[in-house]
Amino acid sequence: MRDVAIIGAGCTRFGEMWERSFRDIVVEAGVQAIRDARLSGKEIEALFVGNMSGGRFVNQEHIGSLIADFIGLAQEKHIPATRVEAACASGGLALRTAIMAVASGYHDIAVAAGVEKMTDVETGVTVDALASAADREWEGFVGATFPALYAMIARLHMHRYGTTREQLAAVAVKNHHNAVHNPRAQFRNEITADTVINSSMVADPLTLFDCSPITDGAAAVIVAPAEMAKEYTDSPIYVLGAGQATDTISLHSRQDICTLGATVAAGRWAYAMAGVTPRDIDLVEVHDCFTIAEILAIEDLGFFKKGRGGPATLAGDTALDGKIPVNTSGGLKACGHPVGATGIKQAVECVEQLRGVAGKRQVKGAEIAMTHNVGGTGGTAVCHIFSNGRRK
Ligand code: COA
Repeated sequence: MRDVAIIGAGCTRFGEMWERSFRDIVVEAGVQAIRDARLSGKEIEALFVGNMSGGRFVNQEHIGSLIADFIGLAQEKHIPATRVEAACASGGLALRTAIMAVASGYHDIAVAAGVEKMTDVETGVTVDALASAADREWEGFVGATFPALYAMIARLHMHRYGTTREQLAAVAVKNHHNAVHNPRAQFRNEITADTVINSSMVADPLTLFDCSPITDGAAAVIVAPAEMAKEYTDSPIYVLGAGQATDTISLHSRQDICTLGATVAAGRWAYAMAGVTPRDIDLVEVHDCFTIAEILAIEDLGFFKKGRGGPATLAGDTALDGKIPVNTSGGLKACGHPVGATGIKQAVECVEQLRGVAGKRQVKGAEIAMTHNVGGTGGTAVCHIFSNGRRK
């Protein structure tokens, strides 16, 4: 297997983009990544695109072909283009698939993209489409939407570990703060714990500001063999580890809903492949689709003991200048969560941090960064570990 590097990255602004089309935003992200890698485009041999629900959100399927066509690689080069789907982990999985294609020697230059345009339909349709990432027969059918499922996890976590409302709110306050410095973020406003706690109830105990929003956006990265990377860029970002895992799709089948087994397994895989431990990670982008999800993630990835994620967040340990900066981009909560694009956007944030170009949200001296992308309530998890230096 060959080592792999990211040689180019691009990402659109996240938010409601009523005036722009699905193909328009993914082409923008792709062109940014191609230019960043100083490619003409003709070098690209394959495309992998993460998209959860083009059929429900924009009534468009066959997205691989659509994107290859609109980035100009279908008619002249007829490149293979593959849509990858694992609900909200579709982007992370597209990246992992592209990495495997390059590592195996099957392709040299591949694009991993992610796109979702969620705001063109009304909220009820979006929420129902998202609910199809849980078990439709046992959860969605009885009205258990994603906020409701994560609310059950939050209640048990609060009961068992003493996690408080203020600790949950601290996740959203921190992520809004980080997003102020991210020009791509959907919400670039500071909030307080009161804003979170007093916002409208969505699913007790989760209020509006505990939830990631509904978002349009696209992101793309270009991967190449590590030994070729410097031909294209002075600042390649090397992939040290990639892990993917599953768990039961429905919550009621799990032995413990306060731990996402897929996160634990995908994290362990990525750490082992990279030859690092949580202590070596300088920053991590985790899947905070709800505030409780960030607390689960930082515990399940081994940054804090089970039950200590809430107190650590309230104490500032996950802030930009904390022990382990979490969600420097603003996370799903404030940067936004266009589901198929999120896993790629997390990688783009790591690329910028490891190149030292993240501006006011820069983690000083960052050398190793990690991403964690979840599908559903943890039916799938995908983790990546990146470095600005080659594997030792
Ligand atoms: N955080 C902060 N503000 C939010 C927000 C969020 N998550 N969602 C919407 N808003 C704001 C809007 O900007 C708007 O503000 P304005 O009136 O100043 O313009 C206001 O709240 C109402 O927005 P609206 O679009 O009408 O909200 P909604 O009721 O349609 O949607 C939720 C709110 C919580 C239902 C929706 O964001 C949601 O379902 N989130 C979860 C998404 C999800 O499950 N993702 C997958 C996770 S696995």
